[in-house]
Parts: sequence; C-alpha cells; structure tokens
Amino acid sequence: MTYDIYREIILDHYKNPRNFGELENPDIKAKDSNPLCGDVIEIQMKVDAKGIVKDVRFNGQGCAISRASASMLTELVQGKTLDEVRAIGKKDVLDNLGNPDLGPARIKCALLALKVLKVGVYSYIGQAMEKDADLS
Ligand code: FES
Repeated sequence: MTYDIYREIILDHYKNPRNFGELENPDIKAKDSNPLCGDVIEIQMKVDAKGIVKDVRFNGQGCAISRASASMLTELVQGKTLDEVRAIGKKDVLDNLGNPDLGPARIKCALLALKVLKVGVYSYIGQAMEKDADLS
C-alpha cells in the first residue's frame, strides 16, 4: 500500500476509533502518558480462563498517530492469547501504521499504546503468578 493509503487509514482510525470507551470490570487496566506532550492512553481488557482476550477498549486523549495506533492495536489483540499479545512488538505497530517516517517525538506517540498494553499484560501475569504461589 502506498503512504497515502496508510495516511487515510490513520485518519480513519483517528476519526472513528475502534473499541473506544470503557469496559465494566476489566481484568486488565493500564494507563500511561507520553512524557513529551502529557497525552494519556488507557487500555482495558477482559481475559478468559484460557488467557484469551475476549474484549478490549481504549480511551484517553492523543494526537492522530497515538489514537490511530491505539485503535489498531485493540483490533490486533482481540481474540489473541496473552502470550501472543506479549509477542507484539514495535515493528508490528509501525507496520500497522505503514512505517511512516516518524521522528523521535512522533515515535513516542506511535508506541504509547503498545507501552500501555505491555504494562497491563505484564502486571496481570505478575498478579496471576502471585495468586498461584499463594495456593501452593
Ligand atoms: Fe501527544 Fe502524540 S502529541 S501522543
């Protein structure tokens, strides 16, 4: 796809963000801000007993890149196992955005949602491990 098509896709996700909002009683909830601008993204997820993402939402404020990136990420994680979610990396996010030529500041915008996602998943896994340890 050409850069123009990606630009249109980014604008579409920005104007019509997918999975935007909040979940009732999410299993995973994490929030972080871009230190350069103060914009905040929160991601919430419902995870079943097999560790599969059953539902996901994001909310917060950000620029077109950060919001589109968060919106695309929610589509990517839906239905995946937490192991698969953990494997999502910077390259996947930038590929989704069409690998635009972003400077260091804009890269932070693009990766904010991924950072939030990782914090949420790792703290959920950490809590689950603690719970298992209590049972043994
Ligand atoms: Fe704030 Fe992009 S300018 S997240």
